Amino acid sequence: MSVTEFRGFAATTLRAEISGSPEDPAVLLLHGGGQTRRVWEDAARALVKAGRHVINLDLRGHGDSDWPQDGRYDFDAYVEDLRCVLSQLPVRPVIVAASLGGWIAAATLGEDGGHLAAGLVLADAPPEISAKAARKVGDALRKRSARSEPGQRWDPRFLDAMNLEAATRRVVAAAPNLKIPVLFVRGALSELTEAEAAGRYVNQIEGAEFAEIRDAGHMVAFDRSDLFNATLLDFLERRVPRYLPDYRTGSDARTLRDALGCFATGVTVVTAMDREGQPVGLTANSFTSVSLDPPLLLVCIAKTSGSLRAMEGAEHFAVNVLHIGQQPVSNRFARPGTDRFSETPWQRGQHDVPLLSGALVNFECVRHAEYDGGDHVILVGRVERARYEPRRDPLLYFKGRYRRLHFA
Ligand SMILES: Cc1cc2nc3c(=O)[nH]c(=O)nc-3n(C[C@H](O)[C@H](O)[C@H](O)COP(=O)(O)O)c2cc1C
Repeated sequence: MSVTEFRGFAATTLRAEISGSPEDPAVLLLHGGGQTRRVWEDAARALVKAGRHVINLDLRGHGDSDWPQDGRYDFDAYVEDLRCVLSQLPVRPVIVAASLGGWIAAATLGEDGGHLAAGLVLADAPPEISAKAARKVGDALRKRSARSEPGQRWDPRFLDAMNLEAATRRVVAAAPNLKIPVLFVRGALSELTEAEAAGRYVNQIEGAEFAEIRDAGHMVAFDRSDLFNATLLDFLERRVPRYLPDYRTGSDARTLRDALGCFATGVTVVTAMDREGQPVGLTANSFTSVSLDPPLLLVCIAKTSGSLRAMEGAEHFAVNVLHIGQQPVSNRFARPGTDRFSETPWQRGQHDVPLLSGALVNFECVRHAEYDGGDHVILVGRVERARYEPRRDPLLYFKGRYRRLHFA
């Protein structure tokens, strides 16, 4: 992460935090009035993990950007700032902008700046606002500004310089000119953005999408960052994908392996007792739930696997689903020639079946059926007991690599 400077309108210095690889497609984040770039920290992390280059800007008079001496905080100054920043970027970013930031972006891009961005996501930027609501927001922000902490500070003078009603009129007038992919996200509990007004606004923009986030108010990206981020990433992948599709086709083993690797899975360790009463186990991601009534699951075990004989011979076995902290366990149970159980805490379950301690889930199974599956044996178990920890994140496996959830 680094901080970079842009030259804004009338030589105002605007500062932004940069994260992710500059090779990846860019996303410019704009916070709302009376906030700073810190409100986007969660979203920035999720975007970087999803392969986006993030530029998280402080608006003039907010956070680390200049607080102009002359008090130029009118809407024109903000629009000019954004034009300046966009012209200094080597690429056309998608702009993701909340509230005041959204108005600035929607006006800039709609008023003949559409070529400067690849897409626009508006986070509860009310297209209509009454004088009463505007006053209420202003009063609440004034009170809050007195309590704000260093780094999250902003200049309360901007509240007096801004004519919110005039700004929204510009935003609405510019809407039909937006010819880029647009998503409007409303907080379902938003006290500022009315659902009907948002709907009217979205209908004016060709192909624009509308999403509503439950349990979230005006600060939608902050209140439910998990749901907001999921909606944002879904939109970006569909409407502004990172790469142009480049499908590969084939019937050879390599293509098949790579195609199968596109199916993301969790990771399990399948365990049983051998005839000598010694625990055996191997890492397997071929786990699938099969049936609820009766409760059945399956795993596929390679015919070359040293554990297969013990698994086939055992009346009971267990499937231990690993959590995000158990990557070393996965590696240990996939590596031949190691004493897998001496370094792994485990306990005995029903019928002595070995259960890995602290796993995300332990399924204790009785053997139900076994089928030939080419170079694997398909082992079907009937679940007798399941034990799980609901708050832990899973260890994931995708395209031959361990992964983690984006929204941990
Ligand atoms: C993420 C991951 C998933 C795996 N999935 C399976 C699987 O589903 N079935 C299988 O037979 N082997 C799978 N393997 C490979 C075995 O864990 C590995 O070959 C192990 O050494 C077998 O041990 P064994 O020969 O002692 O039985 C996987 C390995 C990894 C790292």
